[in-house]
Amino acid sequence: MLEPVNVAIIYYSATGTVHALARAAAEGAEKAGAHVRLRKVAEVAPPEAISANPAWAEHVRDTADVAEARLDDLEWADAVLFGTPTRFGNPAGQLRAFLDTTGPLWFQGKLADKVYSAFTASNTAHGGQESTLLALGNTFYHWGGIIVPPGYTDPVQFQSGNPYGTSHVAGDGPPGEVVLRAARHQARRVVDTAASLKAGRAA
Ligand SMILES: Cc1cc2nc3c(=O)[nH]c(=O)nc-3n(C[C@H](O)[C@H](O)[C@H](O)COP(=O)(O)O)c2cc1C
Repeated sequence: MLEPVNVAIIYYSATGTVHALARAAAEGAEKAGAHVRLRKVAEVAPPEAISANPAWAEHVRDTADVAEARLDDLEWADAVLFGTPTRFGNPAGQLRAFLDTTGPLWFQGKLADKVYSAFTASNTAHGGQESTLLALGNTFYHWGGIIVPPGYTDPVQFQSGNPYGTSHVAGDGPPGEVVLRAARHQARRVVDTAASLKAGRAA
């Protein structure tokens, strides 16, 4: 009997949108039988920037109990889903700051051969979601990762519509059922792929 797949969901969220997607991904991964660690990356913005934005400050308070991501979470995981807001068409600096601490693991080859996938949010419909996800993909290539996008592998993808990774337009309001289903589907697909790889390697 194989060990369940270990999935880390590592995200940054300033005002809660990406956090909602991360929680849906965690649900999807758990339902698919994985062991899940939901982790936020450390905040690097100055406290005065956070307190100047009530929604940001509120979200920091609301998620105070979410554990911070550590390198050990990456080492533990068979698969990692990363979530980030779109910032000028790129991942948030907070997530990049975490990724930029992974050099020692990368150097030892410990990030290779894992499954990676990503999700995002932006304020506007054409505000750079795909460029953000593709930019994160550059890091997965360098790690020697196995990138598993959702593609159009479930009917929900024809409604939510981003084959690169679940994405939400935050300017339209909080994530609704369609995008949350897409996040659950993406996570399930990641778990299924990682489980096949794990079983194949154990055989
Ligand atoms: C510095 C900065 C840059 C941003 N750049 C973009 C952008 O390029 N396109 C866009 O549509 N939204 C942009 N946004 C809006 C964020 O993507 C949006 O607030 C975020 O996805 C909401 O996610 P969160 O609630 O998890 O923080 C930007 C926001 C900030 C603060």
